[in-house]
Amino acid sequence: MIMTVPRIGGLMTQDKVVISIGGSILIPDDHDDAYIAALAALLKEMSAKVQFTVVCGGGKVARYYTDTGRALGGTEDRLDLLGIGATRLNAGLLALALGDLSSSDIPTTAEEAAARNAPGRIVVMGGTAPGHTTDAVAVMVARALHGARVINATSVDAVYSADPRTHLDAVKYDRLTIKQLGDLVYKDHGAGKSSVFDPLGVKIAAEEKIDIAMVAGRDLADLKKAILGEPFKGTYVSSQ
Ligand code: UTP
Repeated sequence: MIMTVPRIGGLMTQDKVVISIGGSILIPDDHDDAYIAALAALLKEMSAKVQFTVVCGGGKVARYYTDTGRALGGTEDRLDLLGIGATRLNAGLLALALGDLSSSDIPTTAEEAAARNAPGRIVVMGGTAPGHTTDAVAVMVARALHGARVINATSVDAVYSADPRTHLDAVKYDRLTIKQLGDLVYKDHGAGKSSVFDPLGVKIAAEEKIDIAMVAGRDLADLKKAILGEPFKGTYVSSQ
């Protein structure tokens, strides 16, 4: 069933949207240049009305560095810093594809990213500090922007009761409250581990009343609907 986003009337002028895009979407080694170019074209098209911040995840490059660093005896903080490096590399790729609309100078904090938001500009960044993932960074940017929405573009098309890749009986959720998402998320943070959404991000979203749309990142038609505030196929997480 396709759910309806409670934003009848759709987009407002200069709506602020923060997209958290998983590294597994950006660089799965599956026509990545074509996908990143198409994503950049969509963001450019929408940027006349929406002020975007895009927070890029690390994907398998981050995983390679955190796994190898762990085997070498690295502390969690050091492994997180390696992961952050990978997220910033991926941000550099998307910024490149966006050309003049973005900058190769990648912000290092959520506050810096929020300060750089401007009509017609697209802020692209990666991770910021050890202890969380880029999902949490996206929520921190939304908090700093006051009133922004978050779209989580992931490799799974929605939130399920269990991992649908391994549990055939997993139930798909069209709509959740932020509290219900909190009950589902993975409890422990560890460098290179991933969950449906970062627990710290869920906590901040609940405190700040930030809604999160969970959408399949490689389905650009559905991502566009989520950006426009139209009904989309993923999961709408309401903070109210
Ligand atoms: P990701 O945000 O890609 O995390 O950051 P993830 O959940 O492992 O990846 P996806 O969602 O499945 O693609 C990669 C790693 O970089 C570090 C963490 O170790 C994280 O696991 N990181 C990232 C930080 O420590 N701080 C940040 O702000 C961002």
